[in-house]
Amino acid sequence: MAEKGLLATGLRSDVCGALRASDAERRVRLAGWIHRRRDHGSLVFIDLRDRYGIVQVVVDAATAPEAHAALVDARIEWVIAVEGVVTPRRAGTENEKLPTGAIEVSADSVRILSQSKTPPFYINETDSPIDESVRLKHRYLDLRREPLRDRLLMRSAMVQAIREVHHEHGFVEVETPILIKSTPEGARDFIVPSRLQPGSVYALPQSPQQMKQLLMVAGFDRYFQIARCFRDEDLRGDRQPEFTQLDLEMSFVDESSVRGFVEQMVIEVTKRTRPDRPMQQLPFPVFTYEEALERYGSDKPDLRYGMELIDLGAALPAATGFKVFDDVRASGGRIRAIRVPGKGGVARSEIDDLTERAKRHGASGLVWIALQPDGEIKSPIAKFLSPESVAAIWSASGGKSTAPEGDLILAVAGERVLSAEVLGRLRVEIALEANMADPEILAFCWVHRFPMYQWEAESSRWDATHNPFSAPVPEHLDLLATTSGDLSKRSAGDPAGGALAQQYDVVLNGWELGGGSVRIHDRALLERSFALMGHSLDDARAKFGALLDAFEYGAPPHGGIAIGVERWAALLANQVNIREVMAFPKTQSGSDLMLEAPSEPDAKQWSDLGLAVKPQKS
Ligand code: AMO
Repeated sequence: MAEKGLLATGLRSDVCGALRASDAERRVRLAGWIHRRRDHGSLVFIDLRDRYGIVQVVVDAATAPEAHAALVDARIEWVIAVEGVVTPRRAGTENEKLPTGAIEVSADSVRILSQSKTPPFYINETDSPIDESVRLKHRYLDLRREPLRDRLLMRSAMVQAIREVHHEHGFVEVETPILIKSTPEGARDFIVPSRLQPGSVYALPQSPQQMKQLLMVAGFDRYFQIARCFRDEDLRGDRQPEFTQLDLEMSFVDESSVRGFVEQMVIEVTKRTRPDRPMQQLPFPVFTYEEALERYGSDKPDLRYGMELIDLGAALPAATGFKVFDDVRASGGRIRAIRVPGKGGVARSEIDDLTERAKRHGASGLVWIALQPDGEIKSPIAKFLSPESVAAIWSASGGKSTAPEGDLILAVAGERVLSAEVLGRLRVEIALEANMADPEILAFCWVHRFPMYQWEAESSRWDATHNPFSAPVPEHLDLLATTSGDLSKRSAGDPAGGALAQQYDVVLNGWELGGGSVRIHDRALLERSFALMGHSLDDARAKFGALLDAFEYGAPPHGGIAIGVERWAALLANQVNIREVMAFPKTQSGSDLMLEAPSEPDAKQWSDLGLAVKPQKS
C-alpha cells in the first residue's frame, strides 16, 4: 500500500482505512462515503468509507453543533469531508472486525461534498444476492462494494507482480497496435471500417501473435505485454469478447526453456498475489495430450481430486457376454469408466440424470455397475456378464469398494476420443456436485505435445489445433514433408495427421490458463504447413505476408505463450465467472449494460465510412 503521506490531498490528511490506535490524539482530515449512519439523538455515528477501509466518525451535538446539524439530512452514499481528533474507543466498544476498530474520529467539522440518490442495492451489505443485470447496469456502485473492489485490487497486485517478475528476467514490455490485419486464433474478428480507405477494414487483434514473432525477428529477445485481445465468439463463464492476455515471447529457446521460465514466473506471481493459497504440486506435473485424455478425459485436467478414467476394455476378457461392449471393441472403440466413491447406493433418478447427461455429451448410452461392499455387483448388465468379466471389473476398479454404500462404476463404450471426453465431463460435473475439490488448493499442470492438425470432416481439410505458427516436434518434421501437397488428395489418413506440435497449455484447477508453442521460424516450412491446412500460397502470403517475408531476414528460433489474465485472477479469487474480476465486463450476449453498447451509429458515421445497413430479409 502507498505511504499514508502520499495519499494526503487538500481534502484529507489520512485515508479512512489506515487509522490505528497509534494515531490517537492526532487531528486528521478525512473524506469518503457514508457507509452507515446511526442516530443516537445528540450523538451521530458515521461509518466513513474509502478504498482503504472504514473508520467510525462520531459527532456530538453538545460539542460540535454545526457539524451535527450538517449531518441531519445526510444519507448513505453521500460524500463528506470531516475534521477531528482520533480518539481511542471506550473499553468494550472496540470493533475487532474492523482494522480501525480500536479508535474513532471525534469530528468537529463536517462538509457535504456530494449527495446520493438511494442506490438500487445496498453497498454496505454483501450477503444478499443482487440480480446481475442490476449490478452491471450500475457497475460503479457494484465496484464500491467490498467483494468486487477487493478482487480488482487483487488483480492490480497480480498485474504488478507480472510486470516485476518479467523485468527481473530481462523482458521488455512493448505495446502492439490494436488496429491491425487479422491474426487468426480460431474465432471471428471484430472489424473496424476505415474512413480514409473506404471499403477497407482493420481487424482488432485476437492476440498479438504475429507482432510478437516479428519482435523476435527484430532482435528484442524477450518481450511481454499485458495485451488487450478481441474475439467475436460465443461467450461462456471463462470467455469475454474483450479480454487481457499476459503475452510473451522468447528467442533462442526450445520448449523446455519456455516452460521453465513460465512455470517459475507463474509460481512467483501466484505467491506474490495469493501467498495464502497452497499449490498442490511443484514442479507442475506434465502430461502429454494423449496421457491427459487417457487419464482424465480432458486436455485441461482438474487434479484436485481422483476419479481417473479406468480402461475397462483392456481388463475385460475377449468376450464379455454383453453385446454392446463386444461390438464397440470389435469396431476399434474403447470401454472406459470412472469409479465414484461411496455412490454404490445411487438412486434410479440419479442414474437417469447421469445417462441423460452422458448422451448430451455425445455418448450413445451409460452403463452403471454398483460395487457392493459385500463383493457383489448390482447392474442392469450383471445378468450378461461372465464371472471372469465381473472379476475383471472389480480388479480394474481397484478391487474394493467404500463401505457402507459401495462405489459406482460409470462406463461408456464408444469411439476412442469421445468415450474419454464424455467421462471426462461427467468426472468434472460429479466432483463439482460432491464438492470433491479443496477450494483453497491451486493445482497447476502442463499438457503438451498436442496434434499439429485436426481433420475438419465437414470441409475435408486439416486445420491447426492451436495456432498455425506452431512447430512440429523435431522427430515429426518428415510427416509434414511426406504428406501430399495436392489439396484434392488430402484425407483424414494423411501422415501429417500424426504429427505432434511443440505446443503446450498451462492448466489450473481444470481451466486452460494459457497456451503457447515453439514456432516455425523457417519460411519454407511455414508455407508448407499453411499448404497442408488448405491455404494456397497466394492466400498464405496475403494473410501472413509480413511474417513470411521477415523470416527471410534472419529469424531466431523462438517460442512463447499467452496466459488469460482474467482466468488467472478469477481462479486466484475463487470465482467461476471471469466477469467477477473485470471492472466493466459484457453480458452473455456481448452487451455493456451500463454504456448501452453496442449501439447504432448515427447516419453521419455511416456516410463518412461509405457504409449502409442492408435490411434483413424476414
Ligand atoms: P490462446 O488462443 O490459447 O493462445 O489464448 C491464450 C489464453 O487466453 C485466454 N483466452 C480468453 N480469456 C477470456 N476470454 C476469451 N474469449 C479468451 N480466449 C482466450 C485463455 C487462453 O488460454 N497467440 C496464442 C498464444 C501463443 O501461442 O503464444 C493465443 O492467443 O486463458
